[in-house]
Amino acid sequence: MARIIGGLTSSHIPAVGNAIANNQTQEPYWKRFFDGYGPAQAWLSEHRPDVVIVVYNDHGLNFFLNNVPTFALGCADIYCNDDEGWALKPVAPFQGDAQLSWHIAESLVAQEFDIATCQEMKVDHGFVNPLRAFYGTCDVWPVKAIPLAVNTVQHPVPTALRCYKLGKALRHAVESYSEDLRVVVLGTGGLSHQLQGERAGLIDVDFDLQCMEKIANDPDWMTQFSNAELMRRAGTEGIETIMWLVMRGALESNVRIVHKHYHAPISNTGAGVLVLENYE
Ligand code: DHB
Ligand code: FE
Repeated sequence: MARIIGGLTSSHIPAVGNAIANNQTQEPYWKRFFDGYGPAQAWLSEHRPDVVIVVYNDHGLNFFLNNVPTFALGCADIYCNDDEGWALKPVAPFQGDAQLSWHIAESLVAQEFDIATCQEMKVDHGFVNPLRAFYGTCDVWPVKAIPLAVNTVQHPVPTALRCYKLGKALRHAVESYSEDLRVVVLGTGGLSHQLQGERAGLIDVDFDLQCMEKIANDPDWMTQFSNAELMRRAGTEGIETIMWLVMRGALESNVRIVHKHYHAPISNTGAGVLVLENYE
């Protein structure tokens, strides 16, 4: 049977892709941020997942404002990125697993999560940059990747609670798949940031650190907040942190924190890395 072996989180900042492409990761501005991925890279090379389910939001590349699904699952065998306006260069295509995706889709719908299914899906920095931070930029990616897009862009946005419940359904979906696969769920986005308006540049370090601790040890805490409350505290784009709850819902109730790293500011964001492991 397929098994979820752990969960990862990462912010998904466009400038990260350019820093990697331009060999700037060891420069003073970037070094501490990228150092936060070292233990996660080591964990990945030790545990070698076969598949990573990347929970991210599309930022207008694949879905524009005229057509925004709440939850959309990639059901393809290949995913490509494209220029989305941040001068990000194309990277090697990502291999998917359409058969697993369709199984997940069927199971999620049976569990009353009526997701959109996408047999073609272009992936943006929200998907690509966390994978580059965890794996480096590869000519052939060492893991299959399945995109699961969550609308965090245009209201109405699903709640943190809904995302947490989706994670639980996702776990059931994966763990009812007959092939022996080692699966990791990666929640991207967040932590606090706001890119526009009077509060542009907002970062709340205390709230970010509290979210990281609670998502690992007491995820129900996070589900008490409405989206308005989360945006008031963490900024309009800080709402992306709800996607970490999808990852957390896919794990057991008690998890081991293998690695935790926080760095702020980087670009416009409070950036967090988590590696959580299910107890065997
Ligand atoms: C930044 C962060 C994001 O999540 C995003 O989608 C775009 C930009 C930033 O920090 O600059
Ligand atoms: Fe974003």
